[in-house]
Amino acid sequence: MTISGIPIPSFRVLVNSLMNKSINDLLWFNNKNGMSLYYFSKGTWALKKGIELLLDKNGIKNGKIFVPSYICFEPLIPIKNDNINIHFYSINNDLSPNWEKLESFVQTKFIPDVFVLVHYFGFKNEIKRATDFCKKYNIELIQDAAHIFLPFEGLFNNITIYSPRKFLPIPEGGILAIPKNIVANAGSTDIYRSDVFFMMKWILQISIKKLLIILKFSWRKIIDKYKKNSNDIYEDISKQYPISFSIKLIKSLQSNFNQIVVKRRDNYKLLFNKLSKIDGIEILFPDLPSDVCPFMMPILVFDNRDTILEHLKYNGIPAISWPELPGEVLNNKSRYKNTIMLNENIILLPIHQDITRSNIIYMQDTLKKKLKSCETVNTVKN
Ligand SMILES: Cc1ncc(COP(=O)(O)O)c(C=O)c1O
Repeated sequence: MTISGIPIPSFRVLVNSLMNKSINDLLWFNNKNGMSLYYFSKGTWALKKGIELLLDKNGIKNGKIFVPSYICFEPLIPIKNDNINIHFYSINNDLSPNWEKLESFVQTKFIPDVFVLVHYFGFKNEIKRATDFCKKYNIELIQDAAHIFLPFEGLFNNITIYSPRKFLPIPEGGILAIPKNIVANAGSTDIYRSDVFFMMKWILQISIKKLLIILKFSWRKIIDKYKKNSNDIYEDISKQYPISFSIKLIKSLQSNFNQIVVKRRDNYKLLFNKLSKIDGIEILFPDLPSDVCPFMMPILVFDNRDTILEHLKYNGIPAISWPELPGEVLNNKSRYKNTIMLNENIILLPIHQDITRSNIIYMQDTLKKKLKSCETVNTVKN
């Protein structure tokens, strides 16, 4: 069996989007709070713009920002290019910020200009504590909701970034949401690229993927021959604004948003039921609060993680590890113990809207058999 790592748009949605002339009036969510929405090619650019606006607002050049140590290095590239000083703060093993260390840091070293709070895998992080901390030290708060599909209460009071491309079958898409009382006017909200070659390439890629899935052909067996880890391919982050086709696709998909949330939640619950009975796995978020739309299911596998991950991929399951951490974190293992522990043991399993019940049973069986065989090998070795 081969499972796609991303959802694939239906033929109807593709044709609707290609025929649609208008890209205006896209409302990402019920914007009753009147936030200004800016569209980018990726969450990476939304994050850079959000930080830039907060620094500009306070007249700061080359500001200092706090970013959690559990973050991939790629979204930080444009920020680093702006000569912004990034301090990576420690996290607890449930991914919440380590407030004791943060308090001690700001009291003994320096107070940053901006604090980035990340919500991981669709689950809410500690918004109230982050708000209180930022108020206490007069720091600007930005919420990184790249792993959140639709916003919930608590995400409307700060500048927030989203990455719809992680949830929807679209080639690109990042959003910056700005409350009017924070920045009244951040410039034009509708800058798009018209890149026909990029669009055609993407349509061709997903069409081939769809065909291979129908034919049950595992392309990973071939791809894996040429590269070790599919996380190793870095994406092109050079284009800041999205192609207009992405916005048209989002518009065509909007009426399905509720169904997408329901399907992802059902998949998460079913996978949780299947995996919770297997020894050797810890599920990082065992509870699924009613306002959560999960991005992926993070599990921890403390023995033979890499072998198991490779086995899953080889068998057509698009499981991934966390992409590469920033060098400053990787080179300071004793300071960032929890981050390193998570990085070394995590496996992210897909639960997106195209995943079926039989895909989930297949993931359970494959994982269970491999864990058992690894356990047998370990017993024989001992
Ligand atoms: C926590 C977090 N923030 C921001 C981003 C950047 O989003 P995008 O991939 O849309 O650039 C990522 C990317 O994976 C991420 O994991």
